[in-house]
Amino acid sequence: MSDNTPWFEGIKFPMVHFSPEILREVRDKFVVKDEDTITVTYPKSGTNWLIEIVSLILSKGDPKWVQSVPNWDRSPWIESTGGYELVKGQKDPRVYTSHLPLHLFPKSFFSSKAKVMIYCIRNPRDALVSGYFFLSKINVTEKPETLQQYMEWFLQGNVIYGSWFEHVRGWLSMRDMENVLVLSYEDLIKDTRSTVEKICQFLGKKLKPEETDLVLKYSSFQFMKENEMSNFTLLPHAYTTEGFTLLRKGTVGDWKNHFTVAQAEAFDKIYQEKMAGYPPKLFPWEEC
Ligand code: A3P
Repeated sequence: MSDNTPWFEGIKFPMVHFSPEILREVRDKFVVKDEDTITVTYPKSGTNWLIEIVSLILSKGDPKWVQSVPNWDRSPWIESTGGYELVKGQKDPRVYTSHLPLHLFPKSFFSSKAKVMIYCIRNPRDALVSGYFFLSKINVTEKPETLQQYMEWFLQGNVIYGSWFEHVRGWLSMRDMENVLVLSYEDLIKDTRSTVEKICQFLGKKLKPEETDLVLKYSSFQFMKENEMSNFTLLPHAYTTEGFTLLRKGTVGDWKNHFTVAQAEAFDKIYQEKMAGYPPKLFPWEEC
């Protein structure tokens, strides 16, 4: 299975809908426009939740759009072959998503005033557990057989989109830019309303309180889980296996239910080495 894996600049990508040629073109030729709204995350960090929130903010809480168009068409992944075509065909203002690490992101972004780039981080332990369960049931990359095996791959950066540590360090280097808003999955869980309000302010969208209520309602775990436009049940069956789900638990700290003491210690050791020097306040999970 790994033989079909596309690699680009030393980073592994999913086997379906990705190619080094498009990844190169996206990095070197795609022109980010000032009006674009872009959601960027490391995989399994709440990407689809954020897509839902952004979609609902743009429709002022009206659920018609999120209930009639799949999330990958509302905010396509720029680096996938299909997503790239969709984004190129979008009318302004465009809305799209990416998991690309900073150094593979369209170069034009760095010279644009792109109004909005939302980067959402999540405790890597929870992103790891979420990724383990997700990738065990989807045929897009080598399936991990055990959590231990996936943890080894994750810590080596031998997973799709590469190392969490490099991804987060790369994008956090942009955190003081006016056009970048850094959020966390943990803050979204802890205080969804104020995080949604922060996003509205950043996007320059004024919502009435009742419109914000609708954004919260339709982007809630339960609504998303039941919405086939958001829960990935529209993925071709050939891609998934029994038990596949995007909206698995939606909680903070699930890693504690899965890591052994030895695994937690091994993870901490590498985490401390790789993230040394970053203020803990950047990472809400350090206070949990
Ligand atoms: P778990 O597997 O821990 O449940 P991504 O969209 O980046 O692939 O991230 C998927 C994770 O986000 C999953 O985590 C999923 O349950 C969680 N998620 C998605 N929508 C959510 C929501 N509305 N509320 C809380 N968590 C959500």
